[in-house]
Amino acid sequence: MNDKVHVLNHPLIQHKLSIMRDKNTGTKEFRELLDEISMLMVYEVTRDLPTEVTEVETPLTLMRTRTLSGIPIGVVPILRAGLGMVNGIMSLVPNAKIGHIGLYRDPDTLQPVEYYCKLPADSEHRLLLVLDPMLATGGSASAAISFLKMRGCNNIKLVNLIAAPEGVERIRKDHPDVDIFVAAMDERLNDHGYILPGLGDAGDRLFGTK
Ligand code: PRP
Ligand code: URA
Repeated sequence: MNDKVHVLNHPLIQHKLSIMRDKNTGTKEFRELLDEISMLMVYEVTRDLPTEVTEVETPLTLMRTRTLSGIPIGVVPILRAGLGMVNGIMSLVPNAKIGHIGLYRDPDTLQPVEYYCKLPADSEHRLLLVLDPMLATGGSASAAISFLKMRGCNNIKLVNLIAAPEGVERIRKDHPDVDIFVAAMDERLNDHGYILPGLGDAGDRLFGTK
């Protein structure tokens, strides 16, 4: 598709995502699966983190090995559904700081409306992972990335569970510098801006609000 778009269709991810898509899967299991998939995805999302040589003394000898060179990471969920991806990511990068961007999609215009933004003070020096399970029209993610760029952040990766081609296209156009990581590329949007086949409303399924 494009070297900035990474579809992480590992068998474990496909299996867990299939269960999430099932309309009979309840809130508890949905939340646990999103946790697990997010953790699996972060393995690939962080594949290009820089490392440096360090010396370690094993019980047998001294060796030269590699550790992360300490590039600071920020995790930025888009409220509210992005919150469901935070724990899985944090379990592998526990020293990351967490920022929040509150956006909702106006149901009539499908345009994103910002209602909250609180970021770590040094965000502009961090690799920021923007989290949202659903990339539909791409309006919310594009707006979130624009807010971050306005605040001086330029090292950004977008992590989604399911994307529609329309959403990926939008991010590619608005933010060609941003790598997009998705667990699945779906077919298209319906007339209400929902991803088909998708999994329905991620926020409602995650928090049990419908
Ligand atoms: C959903 C989803 C994304 C957005 C995707 O959020 O979590 O943020 O829609 O749609 P887009 O790509 O067309 O912008 P929603 O607005 O339903 O808010 P919620 O997370 O609070 O439920
Ligand atoms: N937001 C969702 O939660 N689901 C979709 O399919 C599209 C936007």
